[in-house]
Amino acid sequence: QQQQPVPEGLRRPPGPRGYPVLGNVLELRKDPHLVLTRLSRRYGDVMEVRIGSRPVLVLSGLDTIRQALVKQGEDFMGRPDLPSFHYISNGQSLAFSPDSGEVWRARRKLAQSALKSFSIAPSPTSSSSCLLEEHVSKEAEYLVTKFLQVMEKEKKFDLNQYLVVSVANVICAMCFGKRYEHEDQELLRLVNMGNEFGEVAASGHPADFIPVLRYLPSRTMEVFKDVNRRFNLFVQKIVQEHYSSFDKEHIRDVTDALIGHCQEKSVREDNHVQLSDEKIIHIVNDLFGAGFDTVATALSWGLMYAALYPEVQKKIQEELDQTIGRERRPRLSDRGMLPYTEAFILEMFRHSSFLPFTIPHSTTKATVLNGYYIPKDTCVFVNQWQVNHDEMLWKDPSAFRPERFLTPGGELSRTEGEKVLAFGLGKRRCLGETIGRWEIFLFLTTLLQELHFSLRPGEPVDITPQFGLTMKYKKCEAFQIQQRFPGKSSL
Ligand code: HEM
Repeated sequence: QQQQPVPEGLRRPPGPRGYPVLGNVLELRKDPHLVLTRLSRRYGDVMEVRIGSRPVLVLSGLDTIRQALVKQGEDFMGRPDLPSFHYISNGQSLAFSPDSGEVWRARRKLAQSALKSFSIAPSPTSSSSCLLEEHVSKEAEYLVTKFLQVMEKEKKFDLNQYLVVSVANVICAMCFGKRYEHEDQELLRLVNMGNEFGEVAASGHPADFIPVLRYLPSRTMEVFKDVNRRFNLFVQKIVQEHYSSFDKEHIRDVTDALIGHCQEKSVREDNHVQLSDEKIIHIVNDLFGAGFDTVATALSWGLMYAALYPEVQKKIQEELDQTIGRERRPRLSDRGMLPYTEAFILEMFRHSSFLPFTIPHSTTKATVLNGYYIPKDTCVFVNQWQVNHDEMLWKDPSAFRPERFLTPGGELSRTEGEKVLAFGLGKRRCLGETIGRWEIFLFLTTLLQELHFSLRPGEPVDITPQFGLTMKYKKCEAFQIQQRFPGKSSL
């Protein structure tokens, strides 16, 4: 990329010098979120690094990120055209493809409305308040039973393989009207690919920035292509099945809603943006893909913190016992009445910062931020981890303390909560945020109402996050569970 001249009176953002050809790629090889946080202390909230010969803008600091993504939202709403993103959803991804114009806007709106009808909108046909509540309650119940069975047999185990299937079942129910057994090999193969996907899709994968690396054999990249291919085939097969049984009088799920939209658009003339059928149908790839790994990773951190901090777990369970009791299951309407549990979830997001960067952004036009000149099409990394661990914002940021989100009167502090960055901000902020937050609340409260989580004493547990699009702790097979009220039949 040619460096554009900087207009008079403005400067380019500061940053480390780096090596010729490689730029700062060697420094960024391991834990880029930590390296870039350290560098931001020296160079400031608006900093430029180079990956290969490509300049990358790195944003830190809550105020600066709000300024860029919200106040100057139009300027920073683009996505960079990175080679690896071409493999995601056949290059048609709503989240990763470089489009941020009218077509992206129309697709995002469509995705939001199709998703809403099958998740958080009030449901006339369901006894729950909405379909999301129905799906999550059901899956969380299955999970309790599954955990008890596995514990009985194994005495200690890895929770994550079960979590990911349950969470995938919720998004499958909404998108495809389908659920899978925990032993289903096809689904298991698919949902266990989250790590391979996240390794390449994370911010700063060298092959995206250094062209010569694309011509060298790379196992990671081959696996990434394969993961995307298998994922697309899986979705394509389900979409085909939906086409053959489609009935416009009976829209069953998000996929049907999207097929219906394809058929409708050909008769409606008021649309000023024409979306191809492919662009409409591929929306479901994004929703399904974004909907399981994120929420499953959040639950996995939540249960790890509960097990590591027994006194915190006890406070959540006391709150659940007092507010909900033992005779009924938690419901979404209980949110707001469980401030400690909500504070725990916020602290899980903050402390783990398991999405250390948003998906990379890019500038849609030349702009100025905090007095620095940023050319059009600059790739931008947004460091959420830095904000969540910023000593200017948080007292003792490395401590896990849900109380930091509570007022002295024990209420949840909105202002403190809004300082946590997990879903991005502005025009590109996560479109599944409400669904994600509600799912996490209902899964965690249902599990913690019935079960006590601990780690087998003496077994090594390493919760250092492994860098990726979503960061996980190292595989942990030391979880143990106990039924809190043995002998009580499941509600
Ligand atoms: C984008 C976080 C759950 C769908 C994003 C982004 C983040 C994020 C950080 C990128 C924002 C940016 O680039 O500035 C999370 C977290 C979740 C979660 C932490 C759960 C704990 C979900 C769910 C869905 C979803 C359940 C859908 C059902 C999407 C989509 C985008 C996105 C489609 C792309 C938006 C765009 O580019 O316009 N999410 N997400 N996410 N998320 Fe989520």
